[in-house]
Amino acid sequence: MDVKAPLGTEDILPEQAALWQQVEATTRALFARYSYGEIRTPIFESTRLFVRSIGDTTDIVEKEMYTIGEGDDSLTLRPEATAPVVRAYMEHNLHKTKSFQKLYYIGPMFRHERPQAGRKRQFHQIGVEAIGATDPLLDAEVIGLACHLFDDLGVGGYRVRLNAIGTPSSRGGYRDLITAELTRQLQSLCPDCRRRLDRNVFRVLDCKNEGCVAISRGLPHILGHLPEAEQAHFRRATEALRSTGVPFEEDPYLVRGFDYYTGVVFEITHGALGAQDALCGGGRYDNLIADLGGPSLGAVGFAIGIERLLMALQATAGAAETPPLDLYIVTMGDAARRAAFAYLSQLRHSGFAADTDYEGRSLKAQMRTANKLRARFTTVIGDNEIASGTLKLKHMATGAETQVSGVETILQELREHAGESAGGLELNT
Ligand code: HAM
Repeated sequence: MDVKAPLGTEDILPEQAALWQQVEATTRALFARYSYGEIRTPIFESTRLFVRSIGDTTDIVEKEMYTIGEGDDSLTLRPEATAPVVRAYMEHNLHKTKSFQKLYYIGPMFRHERPQAGRKRQFHQIGVEAIGATDPLLDAEVIGLACHLFDDLGVGGYRVRLNAIGTPSSRGGYRDLITAELTRQLQSLCPDCRRRLDRNVFRVLDCKNEGCVAISRGLPHILGHLPEAEQAHFRRATEALRSTGVPFEEDPYLVRGFDYYTGVVFEITHGALGAQDALCGGGRYDNLIADLGGPSLGAVGFAIGIERLLMALQATAGAAETPPLDLYIVTMGDAARRAAFAYLSQLRHSGFAADTDYEGRSLKAQMRTANKLRARFTTVIGDNEIASGTLKLKHMATGAETQVSGVETILQELREHAGESAGGLELNT
């Protein structure tokens, strides 16, 4: 069949899925310690939700959404989950039961981008949204949480950058200032930035083109042009972050590709990722809930790209291994296979990972499989074992053999060695 997975998508096969599960389990355990509860929203939403929240002059809304249908019936595969989480928060009146909610999600997002390393059309995010508070300590908590997760997972060498970009009204003066300055240097800007000048001038600060970088580095910094209260918020958030020992840099040129941000924005990058080096992005969005028809409530959040996280993890920590098997039962003959099958059922119901051969392969081939599955113990069942009712359990790390009879004695032996790492001894085949 000449059909492949669509461009920019990926199958996650069992070997890789082990690492995904490990990342997800670490995430869930850590987020619970910070009192975040999981929220699952649909994979598609009304297109209007994204247009109104992300903004109709952003790259995502202008050209990257998977949309079907027209007008009010138009639906879009979610390109991100902040707006869907806010929609769900309002739809279920969560603010009426408990206005302050800490929510997290793990799931796929969809953007019709040009695929390249680290840039997919279907990718996955781990994200948090803390809705219902404007406290700058919460900005620091959220950034610290992303870093805590990277630390728990063993992702070293990340870089945290922070800026404050104000609200659409508080940054108006700065916008006019840089628009005037950039218009004077229009001929030196790249064609994209020339277009950005009237539509989304802040994106010029973010442009990677060398000429544009040189020009934007000559512009005044936004922070000094924001109202004192917003500058104070930024100072408190950075002080709080410093108090937790999270290393970060203030980056006056950091802007983000969503219209909903209203204050602190941040990005966490990693050197091993190449051109698409953002592992995580986020910020404060104090107007979004009200803009979507809800009450006026502050909120802050982030999202981490899981594919990129795994790339960084593999670069720093090496590949994770699938969990080892407790027992592999090697069988010789039909009666042995039936006996093994009955043992397996009891072992698995007792909480052990156990397996056997279903292909009638040679002893040697079965031994190879036991090695591949990193079995802690192996046993061989043949006619003699069936006749005597006893088995020899071989502890793979030491080579020691124990005589056992009946499933209870097998379980006892496995329990004594539970939690050990995989068998390191090569099988004699
Ligand atoms: P974002 O910066 O668009 O923010 O995405 C967050 C992360 O998702 C990126 O840093 C990157 O790791 C990953 N990512 C984005 N696009 C792709 C792609 N095409 N392929 C692979 N990975 C990708 C948001 O989505 C905001 N909703 C974050 C947020 C939450 N702000 C406040 N709350």
